[in-house]
Amino acid sequence: MNTQVLPPTKEALELASELLRNGQLVAFPTETVYGLGANALDEAAVRGIFSAKGRPADNPLIVHVSDAASAEALCQLTPDARKLMAAFCPGPLTLLLPKKNCILPVVNAGLPSVAIRIPNHPVAQALLHASRLPIAAPSANVSGRPSPTTAAHVRYDLHGRIPLILDGGTCQVGLESTVLDMTTNPPNLLRPGGISPEMLLTVLPEVRVVDSVLRPMQEGEKPLSPGMMYRHYAPEAKLILVKGQPGHVCNRCEALYREATEQGVSVRILVFEEHLPLYGEHPHLVPLGSLGNLEAVAQLLFSLLRQMDEDGAQLLLCEVPEPKGIGLAILNRLCRAASFCMEDADQ
Ligand code: TXA
Ligand code: MG
Repeated sequence: MNTQVLPPTKEALELASELLRNGQLVAFPTETVYGLGANALDEAAVRGIFSAKGRPADNPLIVHVSDAASAEALCQLTPDARKLMAAFCPGPLTLLLPKKNCILPVVNAGLPSVAIRIPNHPVAQALLHASRLPIAAPSANVSGRPSPTTAAHVRYDLHGRIPLILDGGTCQVGLESTVLDMTTNPPNLLRPGGISPEMLLTVLPEVRVVDSVLRPMQEGEKPLSPGMMYRHYAPEAKLILVKGQPGHVCNRCEALYREATEQGVSVRILVFEEHLPLYGEHPHLVPLGSLGNLEAVAQLLFSLLRQMDEDGAQLLLCEVPEPKGIGLAILNRLCRAASFCMEDADQ
């Protein structure tokens, strides 16, 4: 199959809508990452998403709608859900809500809840309006790879498997939406994202960040979100996270770097700008961005991980941010990409 990559002109949006109505897949930009969309009411089309991505069938999808009124056709909107939507939607927030009957089991893996999101991106909104369909869409990457934040990333992963990619440039947030389960009391935050727990607490009295956000699943543990079971966001290279005081982290990274380099391994050290001077002249330092602007770090993170693969890096040593604000989402993605391999340089 030939994969077209088109700027989001009126004609391209019409073509995209027609493809969706005909049961085909279309990749499109959102403010978080690119999505791989299908008509959420078409079972065969939704199945196509799973085969294009190589995604396990028990991992449910997010349904994208243009506004709260369209959400109401698909799920039960609780008073707190309405408040959150008024505060943060359209935006990088996905709510798990009791599903209505029209939700196909293939979309939500037969669960009692459905994930609903109102994206804040002009192209995603234009596509929802033009097609007048609810759009089921996971991130538009091959399962397990870092989510795509440019059309080129989508093309790299899904070239030949889908007919159309709408190119809306680089995604602004760069990490997937916050997933909040509104069917529990207090609501469970299953995946941190652009809407931080601190922001949610301006609307809700309580939010529980589930432990598995920053630790591996225990053996036999039932995942609260099926997506948590899988190794995720992972580059080809092995990733080791190094935490602790910046001076200690620098020493540990340099020791690990020397050891691996002696064995002929191609290594990169990913460092926050503030700590670059600690490393002095070093051939394989990669700036992560500034600790003072973690939003920019989030926006570039997946792109950077993909770039490391293209450069042929085999081992990545990476500093970590504090788990506050968007830092929690960055740390969560890094932990998963590293399969939770983290060294404590203070010890
Ligand atoms: O920002 C985003 O959320 C992007 C853009 C395209 O909207 N989408 C995205 O979708 O990241 P995906 O499929 O890669 O991640 C959805 C996550 C998965 O971890 C899935 O397990 C979880 O949401 N999820 C979806 N429905 C669920 C449900 N009913 N119960 C529990 N977890 C659910
Ligand atoms: Mg994904």
